[in-house]
Amino acid sequence: MQTDLRGRDMITTQDFTDDEISTIFDVAFDLKRKRAVGEPHALLRDKVLAMLFFFSSTRTRISFEAGMAQLGGHAQFIDSRTTQVKHGDTAKELGAIIGRYCDGIAIRQVDWGFGNQFIREIAEASRSPVLNMQCEIYHPFQILADAMTIIENFGRDLRGKTINVSWAYASSYQKPMSVPQSLILLMTRFGMNVRLTRPPEFKLMPDIVEQAKENTKKSGGSFEILDDFDAGFKDADIVIPKSWGAMLTTTDEEESARIASKYTNWITDEQRMALAKDHAIYMHPLPADRNVEVTDAVIDGPHSRVWDQAENRLHAQKAVMALTMR
Ligand code: CP
Repeated sequence: MQTDLRGRDMITTQDFTDDEISTIFDVAFDLKRKRAVGEPHALLRDKVLAMLFFFSSTRTRISFEAGMAQLGGHAQFIDSRTTQVKHGDTAKELGAIIGRYCDGIAIRQVDWGFGNQFIREIAEASRSPVLNMQCEIYHPFQILADAMTIIENFGRDLRGKTINVSWAYASSYQKPMSVPQSLILLMTRFGMNVRLTRPPEFKLMPDIVEQAKENTKKSGGSFEILDDFDAGFKDADIVIPKSWGAMLTTTDEEESARIASKYTNWITDEQRMALAKDHAIYMHPLPADRNVEVTDAVIDGPHSRVWDQAENRLHAQKAVMALTMR
């Protein structure tokens, strides 16, 4: 079992072996238990995490900041608008300099065609680990928390379980595709039957889809792509319907919103949930467009696990920080 993750960057779960992912879950569940019983776990005393945000956040910011405090360290919240990035600080400079001040650098930069490369350039220059708090391609900490939530409901052996990663309509903004992409990448490693359900204009990146297919070959699971919203729910154990933008069809936000408006009936309601298994769980990384993306009855109903899912962000992130930043 591989337990030494010191100094490692977390940009995508694909960079971690099954053994290493398993170690992250072990530590995350242990830290969740420790917090539940009030057992001190100051594993990162005197360590500092710089959190650099180029996009807004509720859960990610608060859970990383709380997590560092609970681990005995400190997290700096840095709004990119308050930095000198606009005046010339490059990714290389940020990595080299912040990496000397701090023991970890966490970054959220979701600009299409830019964010991931920017984070990788910072990582290349940094002597401290870099943690991806979401780019336009990946959202690894969300998906680790999602996996913890699924394990809590179905156990560690997820072989044969059916998960529906689905597009849903939302009107608030064109959300990144990093959540569904990271979901299909991780869930295909557990021997699950993974469904990606989306309208034809809302394709994911072909390279990511190929990696997901490769994962199923090794794990013994299956991967299929559907374009029928109802079919995605049929007999599923886990459903994660959420919106994302049509970036691979158009990078024009207004055009993407116009395309999305053809699919306003892609809303998760009780009728859709009834198509899934009786014990099926509903998940959403949040924020959700209530009564547009999902009805109140579903997100607040008996199938919903969205609070546990949001809580597990804290434990998954603490695990990765404790393993990589010590
Ligand atoms: N799910 C998630 O990343 O939430 P925030 O955007 O609020 O951080």
